[in-house]
Amino acid sequence: MNSLIKKFRIKSFKEENPIIELRDLSISYGNRQIVEKLNLNIQKSEISGLLGPNGAGKSTIYHSIIGLVKPTYGKIIIDGVDATNIPTHQRCSKFGISWCPQYGGAWSDLTVYDNLMAIAELHIKNKNERLTKVDNLLRKFELQNVIKLKSKYLSGGQNRKLILAMAMVKNTKILILDEPFAALDPQSVRMIQQIIVSLQMFERISVSISDHSSRDLLGCVDSAMVLSEGEIIAKGTPQELVRNNKAIEAYFGEGFKI
Ligand SMILES: Nc1ncnc2c1ncn2[C@@H]1O[C@H](COP(=O)(O)OP(=O)(O)OP(=O)(O)O)[C@@H](O)[C@H]1O
Ligand SMILES: [Mg+2]
Repeated sequence: MNSLIKKFRIKSFKEENPIIELRDLSISYGNRQIVEKLNLNIQKSEISGLLGPNGAGKSTIYHSIIGLVKPTYGKIIIDGVDATNIPTHQRCSKFGISWCPQYGGAWSDLTVYDNLMAIAELHIKNKNERLTKVDNLLRKFELQNVIKLKSKYLSGGQNRKLILAMAMVKNTKILILDEPFAALDPQSVRMIQQIIVSLQMFERISVSISDHSSRDLLGCVDSAMVLSEGEIIAKGTPQELVRNNKAIEAYFGEGFKI
């Protein structure tokens, strides 16, 4: 299946054409520096992976891109515009950013259907379009059997699918997925990989994925990078990255294969 997914690759990404540029980005929580003068690019229409050990700062970087965490230094450039000081809601609508958070993301006392509908009401004015979109997502993410269940009663994987479906309600240009594969069974992982690849192919969206299911991640990205101790220590195609000694030492460990 991974080879099937890779067979769909539509182009190689040799030229730099960043949709997101983090320039000399520093972020601290209190006195604790999480990243210092980090430079990182996410290329337009590319599916890119962000790997790194627990606590390396991956979610923090995503939070800064969305605007939930304010950097202490540096700039966040999105689609050529300095977005560092643009508030979250404006940033996400202006640049078409959707985010699947690592934790939370759904209203626990709302049903699956109402969670999706609540997001749809924010983004889709036309009622018929809204109903169609929600129906399609319920089908795509195989959530039809649990539409009436409050999200707090969903299984781990069902909950993950709901969060992903919610991230895909609006038309997106940049999709940020923080651990999309966590808690998913193997067939659901393939389903999500295919959704991500088809979004890139047919809608040309740019995607950044962070996940510790490294094989699943590397099975659907064009390139990936490894963040360690606040720095990007390795980047390249999946094949290049798993052979990179710094990436092996800091993240994959010896003997990791894809
Ligand atoms: N709001 C916060 N206040 C204080 N410290 C925080 C906060 N959020 C994260 N941290 C700390 O920042 C560091 C980076 O956390 P982050 O969640 O970005 O890591 P991560 O790379 O996403 O890890 P994981 O792979 O476990 O998800 C960790 O040491 C974490 O404890
Ligand atoms: Mg994280």
